[in-house]
Amino acid sequence: MRRTIDWADGAIVIIDQTALPAEFRLLELRTVGELVDAIKRLAVRGAPALGAAGALGVALAARLGGDVRADAELIAHARPTAVNLAWGVGRALAKLDEGEDAVLAEALAVLDEDERLNKTASAHAAEVVLAECPRRPLRLLSHCNAGRLATVGWGSALGVVWHLHERGLVEEVLVDETRPLLQGARLTAWELAQAGVPYRVQPDGAAAAAMARGLVDCVLVGADRIAANGDVANKIGTYGLAIAARHHGVPFVVVAPSSTVDGKLADGAEIVIEERDARELTEYAGVPVTPPDARVFNPAFDVTPHSLVTAVVTEHGRLTP
Ligand code: MRU
Repeated sequence: MRRTIDWADGAIVIIDQTALPAEFRLLELRTVGELVDAIKRLAVRGAPALGAAGALGVALAARLGGDVRADAELIAHARPTAVNLAWGVGRALAKLDEGEDAVLAEALAVLDEDERLNKTASAHAAEVVLAECPRRPLRLLSHCNAGRLATVGWGSALGVVWHLHERGLVEEVLVDETRPLLQGARLTAWELAQAGVPYRVQPDGAAAAAMARGLVDCVLVGADRIAANGDVANKIGTYGLAIAARHHGVPFVVVAPSSTVDGKLADGAEIVIEERDARELTEYAGVPVTPPDARVFNPAFDVTPHSLVTAVVTEHGRLTP
């Protein structure tokens, strides 16, 4: 299975996530500008994959010469919410004094670790799900994409599905389409189809109704930043899901590598939430869907308070605030 992001012949190679599911294509990023643009356009996205992009970006900058520290700043600030991006930049930048080969070696270590740690985190989370949810087989609800494509490989929340599916324990995954950019409908559904896991795509607005009808045993999501008290930033709509899950007594489990934990933040109120271009809402596939002068509120993420979270699970197991 190809990695979502990798290094080959002096370039960063990514699976272009703007083209899926219609087309599987690779992009070669040969300059820092190309990388920053790919991050902003979500050609590479998902917190752990952004950590890898940050680390490889510094390796690319070191190889190209120039002001590596200024380039690192640009990369780290390409998107604000996922802490992994600045974390990955910092990991690679710490090796700069040892030379470009050391920087690249560190970046490649970040990639290797990412696959391994997500596999471990999701194995721990699978045990949490089995302990919290008595029904077999399980009906799981997924939001956004926290699968292979959001990481270097394997996945976090969707990684739990892979572990449970291997054991024949998954009846179906309800996939929130995840407006406005459809990471669920386009990417999560594509990954589940590839893996042969039964799934149904639903509009985000159907999630609470699915819980009310008793169709959901557990909500499984990833995270972009987790504060010290356990508050979780994740794709917009996650907070509403957590409220609905609490109302219906459905466990709500967050899975992430520890690089997503930002222990410097006391709580989620301090997390910077990215606001994205109005055209993501005023247009659909290039066609206007609002009056021309419509004003827009388009936050890419929200914060779920820890009181609504059943468990936050990393490679170290279940975290306590
Ligand atoms: O805007 P995106 O697509 O980068 O948002 C991604 C998410 O919100 C994911 O759920 C999160 O990064 C966890 S991915 C393992």
